[in-house]
Amino acid sequence: MANPLEIVILAAGKGTRMYSDRPKVLHELAGKPLLGHVIVCAQVLKAGKIHVVYGHGGESVRNSFPDGNVEWVLQAEQKGTGHALQQAMPTVADDAQVLVLYGDVPLIAPSTLRQLLDAAQGGVGLLTAELDDGAGYGRIIRNASGNIVRIVERKDANPQELAIREINTGFLTAPAKLLRSWLKLLRNDNAQGEYYLTDVVALAVADGLAIASCQPQQLWEILGVNSKQELAQLERIHQKQQAEALMQQGVTVRDPARLDIRGTLRCGRDVVIDVNCVFEGEVELGDGVTIGPNNVLRDVRIGARTQVHPNCVMEESTVGADCRIGPFARLRPGAKLADGAHIGNFVEIKNSEIGEGSKVNHLSYVGDTHMGKGVNIGAGTITANYDGANKHRTQIGNNASTGSNTVLVAPVSVGEGATLGAGTVLRKDAPAGELTVTVATQKTISGWKKPTKKK
Ligand code: UD1
Ligand code: MG
Repeated sequence: MANPLEIVILAAGKGTRMYSDRPKVLHELAGKPLLGHVIVCAQVLKAGKIHVVYGHGGESVRNSFPDGNVEWVLQAEQKGTGHALQQAMPTVADDAQVLVLYGDVPLIAPSTLRQLLDAAQGGVGLLTAELDDGAGYGRIIRNASGNIVRIVERKDANPQELAIREINTGFLTAPAKLLRSWLKLLRNDNAQGEYYLTDVVALAVADGLAIASCQPQQLWEILGVNSKQELAQLERIHQKQQAEALMQQGVTVRDPARLDIRGTLRCGRDVVIDVNCVFEGEVELGDGVTIGPNNVLRDVRIGARTQVHPNCVMEESTVGADCRIGPFARLRPGAKLADGAHIGNFVEIKNSEIGEGSKVNHLSYVGDTHMGKGVNIGAGTITANYDGANKHRTQIGNNASTGSNTVLVAPVSVGEGATLGAGTVLRKDAPAGELTVTVATQKTISGWKKPTKKK
């Protein structure tokens, strides 16, 4: 039986180069804080405990994850990665295998970390990578037999060491008990005056341990965020991966470089997604759904074969099969469209049920309304649901129709098969099957003169 896994996420750093008042690990990638991605990774690995070392940004970091199910450890002063890990060790079990992750390295794949843990076999393991330019990374020093003997930080390295292509990604695993003893021995007599976590490698070697290593499946997994440029780079890498995964399962993505998924997008067969669409929260698209260009969908479920034309904004809504929406439509929270409904241009639907085959095609506001089947809503129909203090509901029966520029002053109901004449201001219920109009007398004022401009 393997030792229980405990994960420590280092997230106390400042992120000076973000030039932001927000702590670095709270900047968002795909709509989720960087640290949130790392916590999810730790959860996927089924760590027995997840410790997060926080410092910069203080309680705002902690408060951003109210149900993260993690142990928060404050590192009040940032004295280096070794010092950071040390802060978490008192609550780590002696028999645990520790894995160190970083709050600003969000794309690390759980499968890569599994490989690292497997390679380490309960001992010490490092995730390393080969880079043409090792840049700011620590360099991996191996002996003549090819065994890892220590890590040298860039700022402490001599020219020969700087030429080494194998770098330290930072991801490390070690057994808790030994790690605890090595961390106590760390010193800060180095170029940065910090307690380096990387120095535990030489200490482990001095204790006669072999250091296992493996490399990530994709180089981008190890990339960290230190600036807004790097944040944008990682966002693109992540979005491209998501687009690839969708195409892999048969979704037609018109341009994988112009798709943003900030949450989860589930698609049926033969779904087509045009350019510049943003999917947030949980979105589900049924078989044969087509999403036109420039659509923003958040927490929406859409039934089979429905077409969403360009430039719509939809949130917290459900849409049936064979519907047509847009262009330029807005579905607000609580919009529920039954099968075959049509919502046209410049139409806003809020907290309303639109019955099967009903049509709201032009320039309308429908709020707090229950609409039956086969209804036809004329251009410019408004449900006046708000009296200035309270919201009221409107009922529209099956097969009713409203003329253009009609106002339904809620609470009010329109009976089944009723017709409202153009320009009706409905203040009392309209009976089923009848034509209801607001009679306003039309007058022509003869001899009326247009005003003229005063000198
Ligand atoms: C570290 C490694 C280096 C590796 C590189 C990979 C050390 C000494 N060096 O260097 O070998 O190539 O990562 O990116 O470990 N942090 C804290 N508290 C601190 C200091 C850091 O929580 O006191 C956190 C930071 O928020 C950051 C991470 O640890 O997430 C790494 O710290 P950073 O200062 O960026 O280390 P590097 O110099 O990049
Ligand atoms: Mg760094």
